[in-house]
Amino acid sequence: MPRPRRPLIAGNWKMNGLLSDGVTLAGELVALMKGRLNPAFDMVVCPPFTVIADVGKAIAGSGIALGAQDCHAAEKGAHTGDISAVMLADLGCRFVIVGHSERRTNHGETDAIVKAKAEAVVSRRLTAIVCIGETEAERDAGNTLDVVKAQLAGSLPGKASAANVVVAYEPVWAIGTGRTPSDDEVQEVHALIRARLADALGAEEAARLRVLYGGSMKPDNAHALLALPDVDGGLIGGASLKSRDFWAIAESCL
Ligand code: PGA
Repeated sequence: MPRPRRPLIAGNWKMNGLLSDGVTLAGELVALMKGRLNPAFDMVVCPPFTVIADVGKAIAGSGIALGAQDCHAAEKGAHTGDISAVMLADLGCRFVIVGHSERRTNHGETDAIVKAKAEAVVSRRLTAIVCIGETEAERDAGNTLDVVKAQLAGSLPGKASAANVVVAYEPVWAIGTGRTPSDDEVQEVHALIRARLADALGAEEAARLRVLYGGSMKPDNAHALLALPDVDGGLIGGASLKSRDFWAIAESCL
C-alpha cells in the first residue's frame, strides 16, 4: 500500500562542524542524491547558522532542502545574537526547527515561546518543524500522552496546516542516548498526535500533516520506525553527521 504521506528525512546537525565539514557533508549527500532516481522521501539538512549559506550553495539544485535549527520570534530589532525567520528565508531556508528539547531545556523556551517562533516561521512561508516530547521522569510517571498533548496544543502556530507545519515527536530521554521507545510506544504517541491534529485542524488536514520521530534514529532501527503507520519520517541528530548513515536511514523509507 502506498504511504499516505511522503516521508521527510531531516538532519539536525546541532552545534557541529566547521565550514569545510559542513560543505563536505553536503557534497556527499548531493552525490548520493544524484545517484538516486525518484527518491521515496524528501530530505532537509539543518546546519548551524554559521554554515547555512555555504551548505545552501552546495546543495542548490540537488533536491535536498535547507533548514535551520531555531529562530527568533521577531522579524528584526534589538535581539543581540539572535536570527530571524526572514533572515533564514533570505539564505534559502525552507524549514526551521522550533522547540527542540535542547532549546526548551538550555534556553528556557516555553510552549508560548515555541508557538511565537513557529508563527514567525509560518508567516515567512517557511515550514516549522515543531518539536515535542516527554522527559524520562514524565514517561516513568505515566504522563507521556498528557505532556505531548499539552505541548502540541501550546506550540502549534495559529495558522497551522500540512503545508507549513511538521510535528516532530522526540522523547527527551531518547535523544543522543541510543535508547528508543518500543515501536508500539512510538505508534501510540504518533496516533495521539494525529488525533489531536484532527481535532484542531480537521481530519483531512491531519491526514496530510507529517509527524516525524526523533531520538536515536539509526540505520539499524530506522526501517521499523519508518514503517509505523503514523511515522512520516525522522528528525535525526547524531546519525545525520555521517552521510552514509543519514542516507541509509533515508533509504529505509519504503
Ligand atoms: P539524535 O538527536 O538522533 O542524536 O538522538 C535527535 C534530535 O535531537 O533531533
